[in-house]
Amino acid sequence: MTYYFISDLHLDFYVSPVFRTIDILRMEFEVFFERNFLPADACCIAGDIANDYFNYMEFLKFIAEKYKTVYVCLGNHDIITERIGKFGSDRDFLTSENKIKYFLAETRKIPNLQLLENRIADGIAGCMGMCDFKYKHVPSASEMVNKILWATRWFDGRHWNYKLNNADKLWRHYDSVFRKLTAQRPKIMMSHFLPLEFEMPKRYKQDPCSNFFYFHGAKYLEKMDDGSIWQAGHTHTAIKREFTDKLGKKHLLLCNPVGYPEENPYAEYGLKREDFLIDLDSLNDEAVAAMTEANKIASGKRKTRSYKNAKAMIKDILSE
Ligand SMILES: [Fe+2]
Repeated sequence: MTYYFISDLHLDFYVSPVFRTIDILRMEFEVFFERNFLPADACCIAGDIANDYFNYMEFLKFIAEKYKTVYVCLGNHDIITERIGKFGSDRDFLTSENKIKYFLAETRKIPNLQLLENRIADGIAGCMGMCDFKYKHVPSASEMVNKILWATRWFDGRHWNYKLNNADKLWRHYDSVFRKLTAQRPKIMMSHFLPLEFEMPKRYKQDPCSNFFYFHGAKYLEKMDDGSIWQAGHTHTAIKREFTDKLGKKHLLLCNPVGYPEENPYAEYGLKREDFLIDLDSLNDEAVAAMTEANKIASGKRKTRSYKNAKAMIKDILSE
């Protein structure tokens, strides 16, 4: 079964703000789809689909026609509720909770689409997540000052009305969700905010606001099986890397953002959209082949002179 992983669509920047009929939107979505998506059995979208709830819902209806199954988690842009200002179309929602409730009710009407907010379906878990203020991007920074900056200057603090924008409460909520979801050992974990294990792209290292994107994810990744995938978004640099946890299990970390029109997320690491089309069965087949061979060696059915030889043999099997 093939999965295409993508995030940070920011559709509001790719559709007309004036001609807002469903027919026109769908024509614009077709162009966007051709440019950014690839055919697969399933598609996983890790948040930031649109600021505008109408664009958000119409796109989910559109994308559900393109794949057998679509899995989505929320992003920080998806839950904004601005009463006055440039994101005015969200004035219909007094709180982020209301907007989330609306999305959950509307997406339930799309049978092959799963909006994963704090839940697991078909072995795929998802939630938006949040940054952890215990992580300090600048070691000398004050946690308190960071929280004030987040609440008064940062996009999320200014445009959310979520759990009264209490940063501690928000992190405690998502920390508990991450623990509960990863304890169920999903084959794919989706979040919008990023575990630091993705490693920070160079261009964000100088930026103190990077504090508002990340959390330490090792303790959650350790609970997941060898060969599992964590997909995140939020940062507009495409990332694909393997993370080995302290128990020796390997996890594939994926971030494939579309970003804003003037950006090129693939530039920094020289990736392409094909890198985010993953055949999960073949990943599983490799793991099963290695386990079978390891069992043969352990039971003496296959002779090796040393542990070193056995390791080389498993490596050969995996690379075949
Ligand atoms: Fe984001």
